[in-house]
Amino acid sequence: MQEKYAAFSGRMLIVGFGAVGQGSLPLILRHIDLSPKQIRIVTANEFGKDIAAKCGVEFRVEPLTRDNYLAILARELGAGDFLVNASIDVSSVALIDWCQQHGVYYIDACIEPWPGGHTDASVLASRRSNYAYREAALELRAKYPSGPACVLMHGANPGLVSHLVKQALLNLARDLGLQISPPEKREDWARLAAKLEVKVIHIAERDHQSSPVRKAADEFVNTWSSEAFCGESLQPAELGWGTHERNWPHDACEYGFGGGAAIYLDRPGVATKVRSWVPFEGPFHGWLISHGEAISIPDYLTVREDGKVIYRPTCHYAYHPCDDAVLSLQEFAGNGWRFPPRQRLLRDEIDAGFDELGVLLMGHKRGAYWYGSQLSIAEARKLCPYNNATSLQVNAPYVAAMVWALRNPNAGIVEPDEIDYRSLLDMSSPYLGNLVGVYTDWTPLAGRGGLYPEDIDASDPWQFRNFRVT
Ligand SMILES: NC(=O)c1ccc[n+]([C@@H]2O[C@H](COP(=O)([O-])OP(=O)(O)OC[C@H]3O[C@@H](n4cnc5c(N)ncnc54)[C@H](O)[C@@H]3O)[C@@H](O)[C@H]2O)c1
Repeated sequence: MQEKYAAFSGRMLIVGFGAVGQGSLPLILRHIDLSPKQIRIVTANEFGKDIAAKCGVEFRVEPLTRDNYLAILARELGAGDFLVNASIDVSSVALIDWCQQHGVYYIDACIEPWPGGHTDASVLASRRSNYAYREAALELRAKYPSGPACVLMHGANPGLVSHLVKQALLNLARDLGLQISPPEKREDWARLAAKLEVKVIHIAERDHQSSPVRKAADEFVNTWSSEAFCGESLQPAELGWGTHERNWPHDACEYGFGGGAAIYLDRPGVATKVRSWVPFEGPFHGWLISHGEAISIPDYLTVREDGKVIYRPTCHYAYHPCDDAVLSLQEFAGNGWRFPPRQRLLRDEIDAGFDELGVLLMGHKRGAYWYGSQLSIAEARKLCPYNNATSLQVNAPYVAAMVWALRNPNAGIVEPDEIDYRSLLDMSSPYLGNLVGVYTDWTPLAGRGGLYPEDIDASDPWQFRNFRVT
């Protein structure tokens, strides 16, 4: 667990230092061979200053804006250096453009706009979508065909889940008795998904963590960024749109530009409830929050013949955040989407619970298959400081993707689906708790089901162990 996966001799600038920045710093220092003196943090407030000091890393409050970011980047970075974007309210595309131009490695966990970008009513919903942000980032490939490694959207989801999908496809193939070796090319992964008849992929997450300090009035409580969560919850509900779909939702829209792998509904994700399933909770009601992986995964798994799309799965996020975040979201909606004056990151005060985050592959011959991570707060604390279960599921693959970038310095702009899934899973897995695969007969239409009562041992609180685990 102390292994150095790559060496780095340049300067590293961490922009933003909240749940992702603070939780990933110890992993950077643990797994990348570099000195804390090589790292500098620039952020928008004092949050995390004590953690930076303990790690021996210089910390400066200096928010990036449209007007100052070019000067700050030029002062802090040059060719061969690394920009680690862990911020909100800073345009990822602006940062990527600069990094590609100046030979600087780059990673983020989400493609962010400048402040207010998610909710600017003067911009069409289709243009303030994750679909549009992803298109804008990918368009930079043409401008910088041989740029330095730049990894887009690589946390847990988006990020890790793209690799979980690949492993889940291989597990499913094995369990269906198919003799195959792991595909190497995109087309072959897509053909494998088609052959297995996977029709729908949910990114299914249920966060069970809780604190003895309950949410107060006018306060947003969450296990990661409250602000980022509210921002993305107001983007339109977006989902990869499968070729098997026969019913066009009444408020569905096409974007009218870009690759065409997804659609959006004419309402925000926070107003879109969906049914999904995870092993411990069983069936749950979550939100279809817009996320980049809901577009990149179905795009990656598209099969074309003579230019015509003949296979693509439907794909979306189904998120049940921790219970206090559910209450916070409810209050946020009730207040006409006004962000409350106070927010609280649940981390050190959490006294129970775990996060189950995985991919639920449906519509195939075995019904539905969930493959993912079940990580408890106790395990997360033992594994890495300054994290809860949710953030460690994000930060382990985030740092693993930085290692991948250092090992593939000329990779140019890539998204998670295009990265070697095996090495990412190998580096992340020690931090993910139980990585389990579970079959269920649950479907969103049946509502109930999914449990195999004869398999459940009531004395075992982690009942998933007694499901059909493979
Ligand atoms: N892919 C995933 O699984 C995943 C998971 C969690 C978070 N994220 C994304 O990672 C990013 C960070 O999330 P987080 O939970 O750490 O957020 P956070 O709110 O905890 O932290 C954000 C940080 O950005 C800083 N910041 C705000 N404005 C800034 C500016 N103008 N210049 C510099 N810094 C600024 C804040 O001071 C804060 O330190 C967000 O985009 C979020 O959506 C992705």
